[in-house]
Amino acid sequence: MSVPRLVCASANPHKVAEIAAILDGVVELLPRPDGVPEVVEDAGTLAGNARLKAAAICAASGLPAVSDDTGLFVDALDGGPGVDTAYYAGPNATYAENRAKLLHAMAGAVARTARFRTVVMVVWPDGRELSVEGVCEGTIATEERGDRGFGYDPLFIAAHGADGAPNERTFSQMSDGEKNAISHRGRAFQALVAAMRSV
Ligand code: IMP
Repeated sequence: MSVPRLVCASANPHKVAEIAAILDGVVELLPRPDGVPEVVEDAGTLAGNARLKAAAICAASGLPAVSDDTGLFVDALDGGPGVDTAYYAGPNATYAENRAKLLHAMAGAVARTARFRTVVMVVWPDGRELSVEGVCEGTIATEERGDRGFGYDPLFIAAHGADGAPNERTFSQMSDGEKNAISHRGRAFQALVAAMRSV
């Protein structure tokens, strides 16, 4: 039986490689077509933004498309930066600027619980859609630790490792394999694997 093919809305090579590894054998991931403009992610929710991105690539390619959208939700910041995670320190903010703003906002905070959420959405040309979510619970570190990964990785300490034992390392101190096994995005795409088996 042939595996379903999905066009990947992301063009970020690191992310595409990570997603392709998880979907291996279940879904064939096709590259994002050239020349499709970036969509403005202004839906106000992770699911809404994921839908905008998948629908745009589906319309441009005529094929089912998959997208993902992630946010970091910090309890001490009333759930912020949330849907604005990528642009926390401004529209052109670097990862380092976003992390610096987060550390500043959390200065002195004792309660540091937070979670990453990823929504993955598939949109088909006939309008059908499928969405799944992955969550990784954790805390925000008081200083940056580790040199791997990207984004907020040096500041995010997942509550548990892949073996379920309590964890104290940041995502930046984990190998790609360890992080993918427990991360929000890893969990969301593992949920997609299960959901695609019954589509
Ligand atoms: P996106 O929806 O995957 O583009 O994620 C939005 C923002 O969340 C990114 O710009 C990163 O700052 C942050 N982010 C997403 N995934 C991760 C992760 O696995 N580690 C650290 N930061 C992440």
